[in-house]
Amino acid sequence: MTEPTTPTPTRTLRSGVEIPQFGFGVFQIPPEQTEAAVLDAIRAGYRHIDGAQGYRNEREVHRAIARSGVDPAEVFFTDKLGNAYLEYDEARRAIDESVALAGDKQIDLFLLHWPLPTVRDFMVVWRAITAAFDDGAFRAIGVSNFHAPHLERLFAESDHHPDVNQIELHPYLTQAALRAFDAEHDIVTEAWSPIAQGLVLADPVVRAVAAESGRTPAQVVLRWHLQLGNVVFPRSTSPHRIRENLGAVAGADLSADQMARLSALDRGQRTGGDPDTFRFTH
Ligand SMILES: NC(=O)c1ccc[n+]([C@@H]2O[C@H](COP(=O)([O-])OP(=O)(O)OC[C@H]3O[C@@H](n4cnc5c(N)ncnc54)[C@H](OP(=O)(O)O)[C@@H]3O)[C@@H](O)[C@H]2O)c1
Repeated sequence: MTEPTTPTPTRTLRSGVEIPQFGFGVFQIPPEQTEAAVLDAIRAGYRHIDGAQGYRNEREVHRAIARSGVDPAEVFFTDKLGNAYLEYDEARRAIDESVALAGDKQIDLFLLHWPLPTVRDFMVVWRAITAAFDDGAFRAIGVSNFHAPHLERLFAESDHHPDVNQIELHPYLTQAALRAFDAEHDIVTEAWSPIAQGLVLADPVVRAVAAESGRTPAQVVLRWHLQLGNVVFPRSTSPHRIRENLGAVAGADLSADQMARLSALDRGQRTGGDPDTFRFTH
């Protein structure tokens, strides 16, 4: 087993749980390719996998963790509640299935994937997550795709505080206001689609900073995230790019000027749904 050459930085969640700031995402990786991709990522040095019930590859992720030769407790695993569950009981059953699939491995972090405010009352399924947390199913809990008003409602109606908010975030959607809101409430921001599924890599500013810093465009964007304090988990099925991306944790910092030029690329551009209107239930 290859050991990571550069230690991955961590962030400490409000609950005290430590989360590796750099991980590997498995959205849209077909189940038949998932075990190989996750094994490759772990061998390259990743110690954090971001999964979800909706990605339909939990079983393959767990198989890769179990076969990797690394102590499963050292691989931080995030799971998320599927959007299909609208009621408490069905959410609890779905959570129990994920816990069973994980076997001896405790799920480190479990998230409410989307609020779906036009489809359901998200407080109902949040209570299913908090009840499972109280029963010891996860080390930490949080939300995903929550805007400030969704979080305000959670604060008002639940005794449980989310440790993280996982949102779409990249140089074309920098989410400055929501990041500040999260930080003010002791919530760590996780950035999904951190390279906007590749869209930002051809940007002239990204390419210029890459040339100046001797990094690839993807490494520059991922480094920008790390220096902002975001937790990231780029996805790739290419062994070469899996290693290239992890290279973002090593080497010198981007300068304040380079960070500012990348942040100035913000144009409010989403590649995925808007949490207020998104109603995809899978
Ligand atoms: N909470 C949510 O609602 C939500 C939504 C979306 C995503 N996520 C999470 O965030 C993770 C990452 O987001 P994502 O998968 O949407 O997109 P992403 O990581 O921003 O981009 C992945 C795409 O970029 C390509 N790529 C990766 N590294 C590259 C590199 N170094 N150079 C050029 N191209 C590269 C990949 O192709 P190759 O495979 O060919 O390399 C793939 O097509 C997901 O896997 C998932 O865990 C969460």
